[in-house]
Amino acid sequence: MSNPSILILPGDGIGPEVMAQVTRIIDWYGNKRDLAFDVSTDLVGGAAYDAHGVPLHDDTMARAMEVDAVLLGAVGGPKYDDLDFSVKPERGLLRLRKEMDLFSNLRPAQCFDALADFSSLKKDIVAGLDIMIVRELTSGVYFGEPRGIFNEGNERVGINTQRYTESEIERVARSAFELAMARGKRLCSMEKANVMESGVLWREVVTRVHADYPEVELSHMYADNGAMQLVRAPKQFDVIVTDNLFGDILSDCAAMLTGSLGMLPSASLGAPMENGRPRAMYEPVHGSAPDITGQSKANPIACILSFAMALRYSFDQGAEADRLEAAIEKVLADGLRTADLLGEDGVTPVSTTGMGDAILAALDASL
Ligand code: IPM
Ligand code: MG
Repeated sequence: MSNPSILILPGDGIGPEVMAQVTRIIDWYGNKRDLAFDVSTDLVGGAAYDAHGVPLHDDTMARAMEVDAVLLGAVGGPKYDDLDFSVKPERGLLRLRKEMDLFSNLRPAQCFDALADFSSLKKDIVAGLDIMIVRELTSGVYFGEPRGIFNEGNERVGINTQRYTESEIERVARSAFELAMARGKRLCSMEKANVMESGVLWREVVTRVHADYPEVELSHMYADNGAMQLVRAPKQFDVIVTDNLFGDILSDCAAMLTGSLGMLPSASLGAPMENGRPRAMYEPVHGSAPDITGQSKANPIACILSFAMALRYSFDQGAEADRLEAAIEKVLADGLRTADLLGEDGVTPVSTTGMGDAILAALDASL
């Protein structure tokens, strides 16, 4: 049987720097665990725009549809701020999500013990935090029509449309209930049913799907209250399911509870392919961080944890995912910190590569 295939799209800014560490980890699994992958690399975002004039080439899109998993670094940067909307780096990412139909975006927010002091919240609020945000990723206001900037009388109007079909809500709700079943069996659904019809429908459909998962305790919350509860008492949550835009905002909020956006991975999953694996893309939640690009300051952990999620959700290698997560926990417990994780205690930061070295050493030690 051929090796599972991975398409790596490092993207822009710190994307290539953090992805270089993931490549080393992938090689480690081939060499030390007899778990080889067929890896290919291509361009996305501003890098693709510079080469092809589009943020995602059709050939790259076609390759993404063929592989077992896509790993993406980050897209965007100030250089591209003035580009037309249709060719902005972000459009490359959104095209991948949409055409691969990756409707279920898993964003775990886990607070590593070694970093509990680092959060901007009090330690006892975040220590031991382990929540999972399931964000709908292929619909809602990100994609709804009509959209655009139009003339209306003697001024312009900017329009985006929040739109959800029942089946779109149902499939993401199902994936959230399935995750809740495998975790703490508690699901909180967030929308704005008090002001939005799409929210009313969302609540209705989630409640209907609940009938198939009677063991899961379901609650509903308005998303604004959800944001407040996330910073007030985040440990009340197990799994949260929400729409594309609320999920974007709430997941950044949840990420910060753990100390740094540089720690947070994500998995974007679609329907099963012919080989039974879900169509999937894995990417860190953080962006391209132009302010620190090229300085080897970036934290590669979010990107490496995203590969751990690939091991778990695409390649049925849960034990190897645990091994990689434990290696990361070990280096953090040993006190290693990239610049984003520095408090005021005068620890010297390690470089991006230095963090990669330490994680590889911890992997070696795990054998
Ligand atoms: C994210 C990002 C993206 C989003 C951007 C880069 C298009 O913020 O993945 O959270 O808004 O979805
Ligand atoms: Mg975001």
